[in-house]
Amino acid sequence: MNSPSPAGQNGGDSQASIKRGLWSSRMAFILAATGSAVGLGNIWKFPYITGENGGGAFVLVYLLCIAVVGLPIMMAEILIGRRGGASPIRSMRTLTERDGHNPAWRITAVVGVLAAFLILSFYSVIGGWAVSYIGTSASGELVGKSAEAIGGIFSGLLGNPWTLLGWHTLFMALVMFVVGRGLRGGLERAVTILMPALFVLLLIVVGYAMTTGHFGEGVAFLFQPDFSKLTTAGVLVALGHAFFTLSLGMAVMMAYGSYLSKNVSIVKTSIVVSVMDTGVALLAGLAIFPIVFANGLEPGAGPGLIFQTLPLAFGQMPWGSLFGTLFFILLTFAAWTSAISLLEPVVEWLEEKKGMTRVSSTVGAGIACWLLGIASILSLNVWSDVTPLGMFAMFEGKTIFDLLDFVTASIMLPLAGLLVAVFAGWIMTREALESELAMPAGGFSLWYNTIRYVTPIAVAVVFIYNLV
Ligand code: PHE
Repeated sequence: MNSPSPAGQNGGDSQASIKRGLWSSRMAFILAATGSAVGLGNIWKFPYITGENGGGAFVLVYLLCIAVVGLPIMMAEILIGRRGGASPIRSMRTLTERDGHNPAWRITAVVGVLAAFLILSFYSVIGGWAVSYIGTSASGELVGKSAEAIGGIFSGLLGNPWTLLGWHTLFMALVMFVVGRGLRGGLERAVTILMPALFVLLLIVVGYAMTTGHFGEGVAFLFQPDFSKLTTAGVLVALGHAFFTLSLGMAVMMAYGSYLSKNVSIVKTSIVVSVMDTGVALLAGLAIFPIVFANGLEPGAGPGLIFQTLPLAFGQMPWGSLFGTLFFILLTFAAWTSAISLLEPVVEWLEEKKGMTRVSSTVGAGIACWLLGIASILSLNVWSDVTPLGMFAMFEGKTIFDLLDFVTASIMLPLAGLLVAVFAGWIMTREALESELAMPAGGFSLWYNTIRYVTPIAVAVVFIYNLV
C-alpha cells in the first residue's frame, strides 16, 4: 500500500461532494474500508474458529463464502450506499421511494444497525484484552515463560471482572473519542500507516513460526481439507464469519460507500479490500498454528487461542518484548478502526432519527454498548455457568458472550446479507446496477447472476439446514 493520492481529486464533482464531502481519494476509501474489515475478526476470531472446526475443510468453505457470498454482497452494499448518498437507512428509503418500491426494505439497514450495536458490545471487551497485552508484553513478563505460565496469565485476566471492565472502558472511550469528532480527519491518516505496519509485524511472527520446526504441520492444518471434520454448524460459522470479517450485513459498507466518488470502480476496490482482508486472516493462521503444534497446545482452545500462542512466541524470540508490544499496539489499532466503523452506523441512526447532535448520539450509543459489554465480561467469570437460552438445542451451553456472538454473526448478518442480495438482485433496476458498477458486460452478468441466484440460495440453504 502506498500513500493516498493527492486529495481533492473529486473536488466539487457533484452536489453530494459539497454537502457531505467525499473520501479524498480512491486510496482513502480502500484504506478506510480495509480498516473496518481488518480487525479482531482476522487475527483473533479466524484462527480460533478454524481451530475449533478442524482446519483445512473449514478454511476452504470460508474462502468459498468470501468469493461467492461476501465479495458480491460487498459490491452491492457499496453500490447501494453510493447511489443513495445518505446514511444507510435513509439511502435504502431513497432508493425504494425513487423507484416506487416498498419502503419496508429499509429493515435491511435496521437489522444491520442493531447487529452493529450488539457486536460492538463484546468486540470492545476483546479489544480490551488486546490493550492489556500491550502492557503485559512491554513489562517483559512474557519472556521465557512456559505455555502453562502464559495460559495462567490469560486465565488470570479473564477471571478478574474489574480488570476486564477497566480495559473495556478504556477501549470504548477511545472509540467514542474518534466517532464523536467525526470520522474522517484522523481515520484516513491512521489507517495509511498502521495497516501496512500490522502486515509487516504479522510477517515477522510468521517468520518466527517457520523456525519452530512445525511450520509444515501448521500449513497442512490450514490447507489440507479433511471433510470428515466439517460439520453443518461449521459451515454456518464459516458463512457468518465471511460477513463478519468483511464488515458486511451491518450497513457499514453502505455508510462508507455513500462517501465514494462516482468515478471510482466499486468492483476493483471491493476486490482489493477482500483480498487484503483474507490475506491478513491467512497470515494470522500461518503465524499461530505452527506455534500451537510446536508447544503441544490445543488448536480448538477457543477465544483465548491467540492470547495463549502469540505471547509464547514473543516470549521466546529475540527482541520479543519489543515485537510483542508493537504487535499488540497494532492489534489494538486494527480493532479500534473496526470498532469505530461499528459505532458509526448506530450514531448516524440516532442523529437522523432522534435529531440528536453528533456528540450526544456518540455518548448515548457508546454508554449503552458499554453497559451491555458488562454482561459479556461477567459471562467470562462470575456468570460462566449462566446459559440464558440453554433450553434450546441450538443455543445449548452458550454463555451470554457466546450468544451475542452467535446471534449476530451466524443469524443477523447472514439475514441482512440475504436481504441486501435480494434487494440489489431483484428489486433494483438492472440499468441502475449497470451504471453503478460500470463493468464489462461479461463481468456484469457474472455478478448479476451470482447476486440473484447463487448468493441468496447459498445463504438460504445453509440457514435452513441449520434450523432443521
Ligand atoms: N470486520 C471486522 C473484523 O474482522 C469486524 C467488523 C464487523 C467491523 C462489522 C465493522 C463491521 O474484526
